[in-house]
Amino acid sequence: ITAEKAGYDHFMLKEIYEQPKAYRDTMMGRIAEDGRSIQLSELGMTQEQVKEIRRIHIVACGTAYHAGLVGKSVIEQLARIPVETDVASEYRYRNPIITPDTLVIVVSQSGETADTLAALREARRCGARVLAITNVVGSSVAREADAVLTTWAGPEIAVASTKAYSSQLIAFYLVGLYLAQELGTRDEAAIAEVASALLALPEQVESLLAQADALKAIAEKLARHNSLFFIGRGLDFAVAQEGSLKLKEISYIHSEAYPAGELKHGTLALIEEGTPAIALVTQEELAEKTLSNIKEMKARGAHVLAVTNESNLQEVAKSVDEQFAIPNTLPILTPALSVVPLQLVAYYASLALGHDVDKPRNLAKSVTVE
Ligand code: G6P
Repeated sequence: ITAEKAGYDHFMLKEIYEQPKAYRDTMMGRIAEDGRSIQLSELGMTQEQVKEIRRIHIVACGTAYHAGLVGKSVIEQLARIPVETDVASEYRYRNPIITPDTLVIVVSQSGETADTLAALREARRCGARVLAITNVVGSSVAREADAVLTTWAGPEIAVASTKAYSSQLIAFYLVGLYLAQELGTRDEAAIAEVASALLALPEQVESLLAQADALKAIAEKLARHNSLFFIGRGLDFAVAQEGSLKLKEISYIHSEAYPAGELKHGTLALIEEGTPAIALVTQEELAEKTLSNIKEMKARGAHVLAVTNESNLQEVAKSVDEQFAIPNTLPILTPALSVVPLQLVAYYASLALGHDVDKPRNLAKSVTVE
């Protein structure tokens, strides 16, 4: 077993550290050599067929659903096609409008999740084209979909998903760019700009991993609390939801992810002296607004850790108690970096509390009942 963990204490930690490789492998062969175009023949769609897509539905469960929240924003921004993201167990029963010009993207690490598989079948029954983003070649979801985009994260053993989630983000960047390229919503220079920033991500993740000790210290302090908040706006809110889930899954500490601007409409009532909060502030355009929400929380006694990008660090540091910087990248790509410190905080909090990191109570790696 020690050999399987390659010297790491837990599979989760090993898998967190495998993310640079997972990113590289998922991008390999899909970004053209010259970095100016995206090649996704796996989608099996002609340019004409891409032009016929009127809407996209992203359907998944758990962590894969959270990747889908990022995917929605990425595809809408790049390709300007309307996207909805649903939890699979809700999608099936809400009588969704699925037409033959709908592209349904199901996301599943295992490719075996019962609710996701049922949603896929429903979508196909309605005549939609189904693309599966999955980590397991030959899985049920892969076999039944019209097209498969494999995330090459490699086997994920820990119940709490890390490298599968972040590789799903990479898959969404590739899909968004590909659609943009085929539809002409982004020109070659714009595609090349995002592609080159994508290619820089693995090394940037390595630089984050090198700072794990700082996050360990932060996590050990957080582990003394019963409840905390994650806040953010836009893509930061999507990542906040994943950070909150990760912490809950393995540390059993209650947390809530909230859109930063929505706090004042109810949840601010829960902030007391010392309530910890993790604020994601990576979106330059929204930073000022989020900072004013942080000030509202701090005025009620919250202890705030900000995860922000290097270029914002000095400004943000003035308003928070602690800060952690991710390397600068394009605003659309920050989730692929900002999730890493949140994974490490969850890991070290669970460790500090003495829980079974890889096998949290009540949870299964893959849920094959509805
Ligand atoms: C289970 C796992 C989660 C996972 C979800 C969806 O609940 O514990 O970590 O996100 O299933 O799994 P999938 O394999 O479809 O991505």
